[in-house]
Amino acid sequence: MDSRPIGIFDSGVGGLTVAHAIMEKMPGEAITFIGDTAHSPYGTKPIAEVRRLALDIMDRLVASNVKMLVIACNTATAAALADARERYRDRLGIPVVEVIRPAVRRAIRTTQTGRVGVIATPATIKSGSYQDAFAAADIQLCTQACPAFVELAESGVTAGPDVERVAEEYLRPVRDFGVDTLVLGCTHYPLLSGVISYTMGEDVTLVTSSEETAKDVYRTLASHKLFSDASVGGTTVDASQLRFYTTGDPAQFGRLARRFVGPEVGRARSAKELE
Ligand code: DGL
Repeated sequence: MDSRPIGIFDSGVGGLTVAHAIMEKMPGEAITFIGDTAHSPYGTKPIAEVRRLALDIMDRLVASNVKMLVIACNTATAAALADARERYRDRLGIPVVEVIRPAVRRAIRTTQTGRVGVIATPATIKSGSYQDAFAAADIQLCTQACPAFVELAESGVTAGPDVERVAEEYLRPVRDFGVDTLVLGCTHYPLLSGVISYTMGEDVTLVTSSEETAKDVYRTLASHKLFSDASVGGTTVDASQLRFYTTGDPAQFGRLARRFVGPEVGRARSAKELE
């Protein structure tokens, strides 16, 4: 039994889509979430810089005594997964769960035609991580970077004519490619799933990493015997054990987090309080 929190992070509010799925499936687990809003967006930065930022946030989570790390960010997964596994799992025995393989796994199971789209940040697309993860499967892949989606989600604008115009511009080539499955390869994008689905049409299935990643978190807790007393005892953690930090403005982050996750987020805190 291990009642320490699960550490989850992203460049901002996108990772909350993953945190939310984990909270729903494992309400007995404490959570420490960091949104690195001060350095958002990650997706337009060079990979080496994202790696440095991601390792810095994970160092802070580990110093705060988390039992597991969840990289709730595709860009940070692409940039830092190998380093994180070496630094935290291999050296310290802290398991690291990521978001790219779970989404790829789900997409391969979902597609009927073998034509799959991946939309993600420029850094993720450029890294080739999705292309590599799909390589062994018989899939025709269409990739598209959609950087403005992150800014829209971070400003809370997830519907309306401006978003529809941007979505149409980004998604037209993917739709024209004739995909039947579209991977939302950035954890911010599920916050725009309404407009993305509207633009792609109802025959296209959207795949997000949150549900599959939450299953990986469950599997990892089970295989490492890391479930909390509350999980095993069938109770829900106290709201004070769900902690949401940001390196940016806590008031703004808290507002968005309560909107996207729900009132259980409570007050968002400054990441400085974690030190
Ligand atoms: N949510 C992140 C991802 O999954 C990064 C978005 C960004 O900061 O550009 O890639």
